[in-house]
Amino acid sequence: MLGGEEFEIETEELPADRVAVPESFAEQANVTPGQLRRFTEEGVDAWEMAGDLLTWDRPYRTVFDAEACDWFPDGQLNASVNCLDRHLDERKNQRALVWEGQLGETRTDTYLELSRKVNAVAAGLRELGVEEGDVVTLHMPVIPELLVTMLACARIGAVHAVVYAGFSAEALATRMAESNSSYLVVSDGYYRRGDAVSLTNRAETVRAGLDQDVTTVVVDRLGDNHQYPLGADEHQYRRLLADHRGETVDPVPRDATDELFLIYTSGTTGEPKRVTHTTGGYLAHTAWTSHAVLDIEPSDTYLCTADLGWITGHSYIVYGPLALGTTVLLREGEADQPPRTKLWELIEKHAVDILYTSPTAIRTFMKWGEEYPEEYDLSSLRLLGTVGEPINPDVWQWLYEHVGGGECPVVDTWWQTETGGHLITTIPGVDEMQPGTAGPALPGIEATVVDETGAEVDPNTGGYLAIETPWPGMPRELSEETRWAETSGVLPDSEWAYMTGDGAVVDDEGYVTILGRVDDVINVSGRRYGTLELESVIVGVEGIAEAAVVSGYDGRDQGIYAYANPDTDAADELALREAIYQAVETQIGSFARPDRIVFTPELPKTSSGKIMRRLLSDIAHGNELGDTSALRNPEVVGEIESATQSD
Ligand code: WT7
Repeated sequence: MLGGEEFEIETEELPADRVAVPESFAEQANVTPGQLRRFTEEGVDAWEMAGDLLTWDRPYRTVFDAEACDWFPDGQLNASVNCLDRHLDERKNQRALVWEGQLGETRTDTYLELSRKVNAVAAGLRELGVEEGDVVTLHMPVIPELLVTMLACARIGAVHAVVYAGFSAEALATRMAESNSSYLVVSDGYYRRGDAVSLTNRAETVRAGLDQDVTTVVVDRLGDNHQYPLGADEHQYRRLLADHRGETVDPVPRDATDELFLIYTSGTTGEPKRVTHTTGGYLAHTAWTSHAVLDIEPSDTYLCTADLGWITGHSYIVYGPLALGTTVLLREGEADQPPRTKLWELIEKHAVDILYTSPTAIRTFMKWGEEYPEEYDLSSLRLLGTVGEPINPDVWQWLYEHVGGGECPVVDTWWQTETGGHLITTIPGVDEMQPGTAGPALPGIEATVVDETGAEVDPNTGGYLAIETPWPGMPRELSEETRWAETSGVLPDSEWAYMTGDGAVVDDEGYVTILGRVDDVINVSGRRYGTLELESVIVGVEGIAEAAVVSGYDGRDQGIYAYANPDTDAADELALREAIYQAVETQIGSFARPDRIVFTPELPKTSSGKIMRRLLSDIAHGNELGDTSALRNPEVVGEIESATQSD
C-alpha cells in the first residue's frame, strides 16, 4: 500500500509563529467555535449542518450509512435547483456571474438570467437526446457557457465530464472513451495570453478515435464560428440557446448518491484517473466549506482564479459559491498573466470580498513587486485563500500584508481532486493561522500521519498522510472500493483509511504541514502530473529507451524535469528533444511539456532494477544527495548532476 520514500524535514522549512485571527474578521465570521463543538459531540451526524445548507426534494433521514459508505443516502435533490432556482425568490436580480474575458470583455448575468440560460441549454441538450445518467463531455476555456452547460447537465441529471481546454484531441478522446461519452460540447477555440488557439478540428479528431457516435455542440469563442464547418450531428450552441429561449425544464430529482460529475486527474498508473463526485454529499461538502472556510455570504463578490477545467473550479467557482447564492467573478486566463496590474484592477473594480488563488501565482506577484497591488484600493477584501501546493511562510506573509493589509485571514486549504472539498485548513474566525502549515483537519475529519507499516507516528515526525474518517465529498470510487484498493485500506489502528499520496507532519496541536507528494504523482506549481503517464509518452518516442520524470527547481521556478536514456543508435539530441515535445503535445497537451529534458546514458537504478526517482528529484532540486549505496550504477550520478546543471 505504501511507497518506499524517505522523509527529511528540512529545518528551514519549519513553520513560522502562529498569527491570531484578526478581530474585525472574527466578529462577523460565518462559523463560531460553538457551532463546531457539535462535531465532537455528534460525530458524523454533525455533518447534518452541511446537509441543512441545501434544499432537498426528499429530505434525508440518515446522514451517513457506514455500511454502504454513503452520505445522505435516502435524500433526493437537484444541484441546479440548489445553485439557481432556490435563490430566485430573494435575489433574482442580483448578479450571479460576472465574467472578465481575455479580450477585456465583461459579461454579467443575474440569477434570473443565468437560470433562463441554464433552462434553455438543458432543453437543448434534451432535444439532442441527452438523458439522465448520460455523460456529457465539456471542453472549453473559462467562459460563461461552460458554467451554464455544467448546470444544464445537472438540471437534467446528466453527468458532466469537463476536460481542461489545454488537453490535446487525443487526451480528450481517451477520456471520452473511458467514460463512454457520446456528447461533446466544445468551443471553437480559446485565447491563451491573448493569442487565439483553434479547437476547430478537435471534434473531428475525437470522433475518428472513438467507437461510439458523438453528438457535438460548438460554442463560439473566437468569433469566427461561421467558418466552423458543422457536419452531421454537430450543432451550434448559439442556435440551441436561441431555439429554446424561454423554455423551462423540470429539474430531475437525483439520489444524493447519484453522480453529479466525473473529472479526470493524474494517478499513479499510466492512465488518467477517473474521480466521480456525488450529488448530495459533494454539494453539501462544498457548500459547507464555502460557508465555513471561505466565509462566503450572498452579498459577497467572490473571485477564484482557478480554471473551471480542474476540481477547484468545480467546487469553489461553481457548486459551493453558487449554492450559497453569492456573486461569482469569473476570469478567463491565468491569475499571474500580464498585465501585472490586472488582478488588482479587477478586485478594485468589482469590490471583491474574497480572493482564492494559488501559491504559485502569489510567488509571481511577489517577484513583480508590491508596487502593483499598492496602486489599487483592495480594502474590499475580507478573506484570502490559497490552494494547490504548500505556501512558503515568506510568500504567506507577503500575501497577508500587501494584499490583505494585515486584516484578512489567509486560509491555506489542503484538499485534492479526490476529496471534492477542503479537509485540512484553519476555520478563519476560529483557528490561529500558521504560515506554511495548512492547519488542523476540519471538524469531523481525522488526519493521521503513519509510517510504512501503517502505524501512526509520533507528533512532529514525517510520514504518510492518511484520512481516517469518511467525509461527505468523498468520491463514489471510495465507497465502492473497486479500482481504488491501492489508495484505501485498513491501517493497524483503524478500520478504514484513505491514503492521500502526500507526506506530512502533524504537531502536538494537530496542525498539519504538507511535505508534498510521495507517490508517482508530481505537483509542479500547483498542477498535478502522473510521472508514469509522462514517462510512457516519452518512452514511446522512437530512439528513447527509458525515461524518468520528476519535479525540479531551477532556483526560480518549479518545473517538470524529464530524464531520458536514448538508444545507442538514436537520432541526434536536438531531434529527440523535438520529438519528445511533439509527443507530449499531441498525447497530453502543451501544458505538460517538460521544462527540462536531460539525456543520460543510464538512469540510476537500485540493485533490483528500479529507477531511483528520489535521487533524480534531489538532483533536479539541487539538494544534497542522500544515501546512494543502494545504487547498482553509482558512477552515473555525477554525470547526471552535471548534465542537469549544464542543460
Ligand atoms: C495535491 C492535489 C485541491 C485542488 C487543487 C489541487 C497538493 C493541494 C495543498 C495545500 C500543500 C497542497 C497536495 C495534494 N495540495 N492543496 N494547501 N498545501 N499541498 O488538486 O490536482 O488533485 O492535487 O495538491 O499534494 O495531494 P489536485
